[in-house]
Amino acid sequence: MVGAGEMGHGIAEVLALAGLRVSLVDVKQEILDRAMARIADSLRRLASRGRIGPEQVDQILSRISTHTSIAEGARGADLAIEAVPERLDVKSQVLRELEAALPPEAIIGTNTSGILISELAQFLSRRDRFLGTHFFNPPAVMKLVEVVVGPETSEAAVNSVMEFLRAAGKVPVRVKDSVGFVVNRIEGPELLYFCLLADRGVAAPQEVDAFFRSQGLPMGPYELMDYVGLDVVHDILQYFASRLSRDYGKCRTIGELVSRGQLGMKSGRGFYEWSGGKAKIDLSRQTDKVSLMDVMLLEVNEAVKLLEEGVASPDDIETAVKLGLNRPFGPISVAKSVTSSEARERLEALAREFDCSVFAPARSIVEGRLRDAVEGRLAPSPAQRAPAPAQAQAPPAQSSGPSPYGEYKYLRVSRAGDRVLRIALNRPKLNLINPELLDELGSVLDRVRDDPEVFVVLITGEGGVLSAGADLSTFVADPVQFSEFSRKGERVFRKIVELPKVTVAEIKGYALGGGLELALACDIRLSTPDAVLGFPEVTLGILPGWGGTQRLPRLIGMSRAMEMILTGRRITGKEAHEIGLVASLLGGDPDGEAISYANSIATTSAPIAARFAKMLVNKASEVPEDVGLEMESAAFGILFSTQDMKEGVSALLSKRKPVFRGR
Ligand code: NAI
Repeated sequence: MVGAGEMGHGIAEVLALAGLRVSLVDVKQEILDRAMARIADSLRRLASRGRIGPEQVDQILSRISTHTSIAEGARGADLAIEAVPERLDVKSQVLRELEAALPPEAIIGTNTSGILISELAQFLSRRDRFLGTHFFNPPAVMKLVEVVVGPETSEAAVNSVMEFLRAAGKVPVRVKDSVGFVVNRIEGPELLYFCLLADRGVAAPQEVDAFFRSQGLPMGPYELMDYVGLDVVHDILQYFASRLSRDYGKCRTIGELVSRGQLGMKSGRGFYEWSGGKAKIDLSRQTDKVSLMDVMLLEVNEAVKLLEEGVASPDDIETAVKLGLNRPFGPISVAKSVTSSEARERLEALAREFDCSVFAPARSIVEGRLRDAVEGRLAPSPAQRAPAPAQAQAPPAQSSGPSPYGEYKYLRVSRAGDRVLRIALNRPKLNLINPELLDELGSVLDRVRDDPEVFVVLITGEGGVLSAGADLSTFVADPVQFSEFSRKGERVFRKIVELPKVTVAEIKGYALGGGLELALACDIRLSTPDAVLGFPEVTLGILPGWGGTQRLPRLIGMSRAMEMILTGRRITGKEAHEIGLVASLLGGDPDGEAISYANSIATTSAPIAARFAKMLVNKASEVPEDVGLEMESAAFGILFSTQDMKEGVSALLSKRKPVFRGR
């Protein structure tokens, strides 16, 4: 253990308590003696509380030897950890000396809280055996250790250090080398938020602290900053300003306090007077200008950014925040109780209010994929490993979430975004539609009609095909069933037309007969260029019985509809696009692109406006023009009273993206 200061003496104690022999190294014997005295005090306290036997105090102390030379202390060690001051010149010198003195197979850990492992690794030649072992203060009490994996660290080194830490009674979490690792990074935005609150005088620090104490926190945020040291907080913010976002450098108050020597508890004064050893807070005077949820959302947002960057798994982020910040729950469990749109709306409001991009929602939240993110369904691409631009609008193209409506025999129903429901036909033999599938589809449509969480419904098929049509084998034997089957299809497809949501059909493989009629009932059709579309019914002695004869001519005109229906001619997706039957063509990842398309509607269109517009467009071919125009004016008037309209207009005027709530 190199460095016997605040952290080093504590880590040495932890390791000796776990039964290991420890060489503790520092520059002067007095420092080492002071460290040993602190360890002895701590062990005696443990003995007085019965955590160790009294006879163990001396045994444990005897396992620690002290040295003023790295060459001597490192001899024969399996693992070395450095906890020397957070300065590159000091750390580089210590790392070089350590590598020269240690056996070649030894592992080196650094307790750095801010410097990247990749930056420190350049001072070493055996970089595969170098990683971060970030203990929390005080090491004897705090269970968390962030094990920071550098770009060249070997799996073998990571695994043996994780195992070693577990054996020493710690809870290691695996973290990818990145600015602030997990815990400091999650705390960053809220530190900035409280600093900006203080700058703007939104509420007095005492009143904010009184509020947070009333919410059950052991310390308010300003009290905590004073306790940690305002110089430390200032350093973190400056470091983040240089590495993550210049907005971290925006706050004035902390810098002013630090330059006046008001460093918090250690200097006797910071936000508070600490002469009595305690901050005096009048708990009866609480502000109502801040909300606990805002702070939680800032943590959730930063956690999502870490997930997008592939820094740690959801479980590890949750564990790190709980143990590193002494919380009963972490941002991942909080995220499960909010929707993407709620988080997005509030974070955008905070970003606007404080003119601060750090608070802007992470990409996955904007795309409606908060749930996917916190349930570990983001696959970080190399591009995503760089910090995500907060306002990026790239749509998602990933797999969809679990079924919100339970399981079906012939359908796969899943969430494919915050307000998108994906319904995929799932039958053998090209998704042929049988009566049971229609029943299932009808029941999903009945449920989705009243589901306020869903705004766009995407209808598609599994197995690279939408559907090759009705399953004729189910009804050819019985004329009564035949007619009932036709009615059932019409009824179910009518539900799609009348659904107060935007419906999108993804055509791929085949959309023949009933499969094409299913697509025709949707508001928007997307298709792969090589998909095959057609109505083969007349060539089988029947006719399109689920609305095809009525809906196709309205979409492409009588002439072309007649040709398709009377000859059974099949067309490709590309031709269908040229004649306006298909709105957009899909590329190499049709499922992903269709999901992205649906999500882009869900995040940009106002739900009530879209719902009225859909109804009016559908009525256009059914009612005389003057009646249609009258209905249009009436709908226009109704929209005037919606919150969405106010939001849309005010966003336009202030040149920002609107956030629609469907109200
Ligand atoms: P500290 O200043 O209390 O201790 C550093 C020790 O290193 C001193 O005793 C110093 O004499 C010794 N040292 C300096 N040069 C040396 C050399 N060439 N060879 C051997 N020993 C040398 O610092 P602290 O707070 O223990 O921090 C150490 C590291 O741990 C830093 O990287 C810091 O960022 C990190 N850390 C600190 C935390 C804290 O709360 N203090 C929490 C987590 C990480």
